[in-house]
Amino acid sequence: MITHELRCRPARKKFAAENGALLALAKELAEAPDRLQSKLTEVILELCQADSAGVSLLEAGPPEVFRWTAVKGEFAHNVSGSIPRDASPCGVVIERNEVLLFRDSELYFPLLRTIKPAIYESLLAPFDVEGRPGGAVWAVKHRPEGRFDAEDARLLMNISAFAAAAYQAAQARARAERERDTTATLHPRLLQVSKMAMIGEIASGVANELSQPLTAIGHYAQACKRLLSGPPADVESLLGALDEISAQAQRAAETVWGLRRLVATKASEALESNLNEAVEEVLELLRVNAQARDVRVVLRLATHLPPVRIERTEIQHVVLNLLSNALDVLVNNPRDSREVVIETQVTSDGAALTVSDNGPGLPQDVRERMFAPFYSTKTSGTGLGLPISHSLIRAHGGRLIYEENAAGGACFRISLPVNADPQSLQPPQ
Ligand SMILES: Nc1ncnc2c1ncn2[C@@H]1O[C@H](COP(=O)(O)OP(=O)(O)OP(=O)(O)O)[C@@H](O)[C@H]1O
Ligand SMILES: [Mg+2]
Repeated sequence: MITHELRCRPARKKFAAENGALLALAKELAEAPDRLQSKLTEVILELCQADSAGVSLLEAGPPEVFRWTAVKGEFAHNVSGSIPRDASPCGVVIERNEVLLFRDSELYFPLLRTIKPAIYESLLAPFDVEGRPGGAVWAVKHRPEGRFDAEDARLLMNISAFAAAAYQAAQARARAERERDTTATLHPRLLQVSKMAMIGEIASGVANELSQPLTAIGHYAQACKRLLSGPPADVESLLGALDEISAQAQRAAETVWGLRRLVATKASEALESNLNEAVEEVLELLRVNAQARDVRVVLRLATHLPPVRIERTEIQHVVLNLLSNALDVLVNNPRDSREVVIETQVTSDGAALTVSDNGPGLPQDVRERMFAPFYSTKTSGTGLGLPISHSLIRAHGGRLIYEENAAGGACFRISLPVNADPQSLQPPQ
């Protein structure tokens, strides 16, 4: 190690070149953050007039290795290669956390002999990952001409610190984007899973609750058959059995209605809320899905929308269902004409929201059955999206209706009165 020699070597300040390099790095960060390390090595190669330059990042072991994540110059063919931590001068740089100059490094790190062309002199600076030295940037001369000086060391240290901060920012942004993408794709799947779970619950509830009255009806029907087959018919017993059948059927009907009420959750947590904000949150979740399918989502939000009493997540659930339906149907349109328009409006008694698309719309037979549970024209649809949405909006004292869309597609309209009295559903008369 000959770092002390740097002080004795004549050095020429390169401030203008340094500024240019920092600008180039900042530009790369803005335009293509994943190319930052590659740009960094380019800049080092030029500023330090090196024959090779690179970035080595420590990878967890065992064994711990330094991976050459970016390399330029005569060593370029070694990119992505790795070298064990103990066999590389980068290990010493990380431990001491300072710029070091090496000559004859292969005497101490014999593995370097196997890398061609041979190293004459190498200048290394620590590179921070998550606030700690987690790698090194380096410049190499393969020949004795034009040795590194103190200015090269200063530049390497500065540029490395700048790039490390930029790299960290880019990593944080990429992480945030990944999380956003996962949430966006996860949410529609969760919606489907929650519908499936609901079907499961309803099915087992129905099975449990109905098995008793149905068994009783079966027994009384058998009894009636017996009474009728052996003359003379015992009219009184027959009437008693028929009464029982009627009572058990009534019980079954009440059970079914009770289950229905359970499914149609009432707007229990209704709070004054801004419909625009609720819609924007949903859109944020589905934006990636829409982009992936090339669907243009146009948002037209009314200003001065009166606050409505809503259970926010329930209304969002409805909007999510309507939007998912629109996205599903629009994949059949040509890629350059897939559009959903979401609009909020002030109405005479509150607020309204429409979700319209330029898909094929709903044929008459589908329109007649769209709110019926389990009705779906999709191979993997549960057919519960619209019925649940319909129940939720009714529970909010509002209405969900289908309207003709001038553009020819479907248009669903939710209207919510300001003074709604969120109610539970009443059995039909
Ligand atoms: N925007 C739309 N354009 C055309 N048809 C639609 C639209 N929205 C709903 N439909 C029709 O209504 C049917 C019922 O919709 P619903 O949301 O209840 O269930 P689904 O979407 O089929 O299933 P799931 O909601 O579980 O995915 C759909 O299968 C589809 O045929
Ligand atoms: Mg649906």
